[in-house]
This record gives sequence, structure tokens and C-alpha cells, in this order.
Amino acid sequence: MTPPRAAPCVLVTGGLGYIGSHTVVALAGHGYRVVVVDDLSNSSIDVLAPVEALCGTSVATYCGDVRDREFLATVLGRNPVACAVHFAGLKAVGDSVRMPLEYYDVNVNGTLTLARALEAAGVRRVVFSSSATVYGDPAVAPTPETHPLAPANPYGRSKRDAEELLADLCASDPRWGAISLRYFNPAGAHPSGTIGERPQGVPNNLVPYIAQVANGERPALRVFGDDYPTPDGTGVRDYVHVMDLASAHVAAVARMLSRPGNEVINLGSGRGYSVLEVIRAYEHANDVRVPYEIVPRRSGDVPRYLADATLAGQLLDWRATRGIDEMCRDAARFQRMHVQRAPRPARTPASSPNRALSPAS
Ligand code: NAD
Ligand code: WQD
Repeated sequence: MTPPRAAPCVLVTGGLGYIGSHTVVALAGHGYRVVVVDDLSNSSIDVLAPVEALCGTSVATYCGDVRDREFLATVLGRNPVACAVHFAGLKAVGDSVRMPLEYYDVNVNGTLTLARALEAAGVRRVVFSSSATVYGDPAVAPTPETHPLAPANPYGRSKRDAEELLADLCASDPRWGAISLRYFNPAGAHPSGTIGERPQGVPNNLVPYIAQVANGERPALRVFGDDYPTPDGTGVRDYVHVMDLASAHVAAVARMLSRPGNEVINLGSGRGYSVLEVIRAYEHANDVRVPYEIVPRRSGDVPRYLADATLAGQLLDWRATRGIDEMCRDAARFQRMHVQRAPRPARTPASSPNRALSPAS
């Protein structure tokens, strides 16, 4: 189905990544015209075909870096963008400790450059991918958006800084609108199994790691600590299905198009699961075994993350509708369909920057 030509056009940076690809499909399903910018540093052009198949239409896709202002100006000059959804960024906590300059450059400077390009094009609406990581080790769970921010690593601080940049921008000019969405723990995949999370190398996150173990690609899961002050001693997290996250972005875009101002909104279910509960859910949902061993705590982990998602209900009329079983089933389906693929190149070749992969329509 091709959306009508008058449909608002949404620029999605990082649109070939994990959450971005699901959001592109959801936006197209709601009649938006979508334009993707991605430098392929943590994704592959192979994702475009299944995304377009799920959208039922072609998606104008530009390969380039959000820190490249001229490139963004070209994309914005060719497309009547009404709002941007800014996923492009780096997200590995450990890497951020080793490479803080890279993280501040991509996550903060990338947001700054995008905001400048949007301002120059007169597009003053942005939905931003933030993270529950900005809370650090929260004193209150479920954690509301008003909780003090105390990010414990450069990744979290770069997200906080980008949020504040957007808040300052909105305060400076009443025409600007920004919604920062603080995701808790995204998991799962599209129910078709054709798009999902494809971590490079050893997965950092729990569900992709379990999926590889259950699929026989790794021998056992290492459970990082069983001495936390939680019911079974393992870490508790608020897992949220990536399809629910995608719907929340559609709602945030609609809200952005209707009003300016700065808002910060948590996206989670308000329900926590321990590591052992996730293992059991995965085993039960997929009729598989997930061997595991308990090892010492992972440095920097906190006992519990849980969203107070009241505001998302009030402002976006959104709540998480898919539970942990569905996340585990969908993650497993994607894993089965993508096992034993050839490794992807780590980065876009420097010799082909800003290549338009499909012409703007
Ligand atoms: P992802 O790595 O799968 O997607 C990010 C996409 O952005 C990738 O396709 C990558 O190639 C692209 N990209 C990276 N740097 C770029 C640049 N400089 N210019 C253009 N494109 C660039 O990650 P994801 O899990 O989909 O996360 C999306 C966003 O959500 C990120 O900003 C991340 O920090 C945030 N977030 C993710 C999680 C999570 O657990 N997945 C949780 C909270 C917040
Ligand atoms: C979940 C639980 C681990 C792997 C991270 C980022 C955060 C956000 C989401 C981007 C914890 C345990 C994990 C494993 C394990 N990303 N675990 N064995 O740490 O809550 O959050 O991803 O914004 O910024 O920090 O998620 O999936 O890594 O861990 O026992 O092999 O699973 O200790 O309790 P986390 P996670």
C-alpha cells in the first residue's frame, strides 16, 4: 500500500537499526512517508528489503552520517520532512567507557548537527531515543520521569546531554518541539521474523544472548550475579517489546506534529522480570533449554530498573501490550531465521560516504 502523497514525511535517522527498522514499518503502516538516514555502522543494507516488504512500499534511504551537516541538508532539501525521529547513535555501555570521545561525538554532536540541519530547513520537531540509563541507579522503582538523573557511564551522560540540548532548544524558541523517549529494556522482534536485533559479535544484552544459547550458537548463558536485593537475587528489568516501542514512536510523532514544547516520557511496562524469570519464560515460550551458570556481578549493573509509565498513558495514550512470552517467542523466531549468516562488515567503507541508496521520491 502506497501512502497518499499528502501524507506527512518523517525522517528516521538510524532507520535500519533494531528499533528504527520496526518504527519505519509502523510509521508506514500508519500512512506516513518515511525517509531513512543510516551510516550502516551498526546495521546492514540487507535490512532494507524486509523493511520495504513489510511497509508494502519503497523507503527512500540515504547512507550517511548524522554528523555531516551538508549531507543532512541535501536529504532535507529533497524531502518535505515534517518531523524527525532520531535513533542514530552508539549504545554499548562498555564501549562508551573505552571510547568516550566517539560516544559524545556521535550521540551529542550527532544530535546537535541534526538539530542545526532541521532548524535550517524549518523542521522544528524531533522525537529522540533516550534511555532509562540516564537515571543511573534509581532510588525509586517504578521510576518516574521526575527522578533525578545520575547516569553512571559516558553512554548515559551522552543521552542526558542530548536530552538537555533539545530541552534548551525548545526553551529558546516556542516553534520547537521535542519528545525524548526513555526506553527501558527493548526486546523481541517483528512477528514475521524478518527484522529484529542483530548484535555484532558477542551480545551485551540478555535476550539476544539467550536466543543464541537456545539456538546452540553459544554453550551457556552467564548470569551476572545472584546476590542482588531482588526476590531471586538476579537483576530485575522492565522488558518492553520492540513492536510496542514502535507504536509509541508513531504516537509521539503524531503528538509532535500537533504541538510544540519539550517532553520526556518513559517507555516500559512497569512490570519487572529477573534474569532467571526471563530464562524460564524463554524456555517455556519456545520449548527449548537454556543452559546457564551463575557468575559474579557485571561491573556497573544495578539491581532493578522499572518504569513508571503513567505519563506515556496520559500523553501518548500508549501502554505496553505485549508480554515477556511474546518477546521470547518473537526473538526466537528471528534468531532461527537469521542463524549462520555471513558476518557483516563492521563499518561503511570510508570511500563511499553519503551514497544515496535509493533516490528520493
Ligand atoms: P542500533 O545500533 O540497532 O541502531 C542504531 C542505528 O543508527 C544503526 O542502524 C546504525 O548503523 C545507525 N547509526 C549509528 N551511528 C550513526 C551515525 N553517526 N549516523 C547515521 N547513522 C548512525 O540500536 P537500537 O537498539 O536500534 O537503538 C536505537 C537508539 O535507541 C539508540 O540511540 C540507542 O542509544 C537508543 N536506545 C537503545 C536501547 C536498546 O537497548 N536497544 C535502549 C535505550 C535506548
Ligand atoms: C539485563 C539483565 C544483566 C547479559 C543495557 C544498557 C542500557 C540499555 C539497555 C541502551 C541484567 C543480566 C545480561 C548476560 C546477564 N541500552 N545479564 N547475562 O544492563 O539493563 O541495560 O541495555 O540504552 O543502557 O545498560 O540490559 O540486557 O544487558 O541486562 O545475566 O549475558 O540481564 O546483569 O541484570 P541492561 P542487559
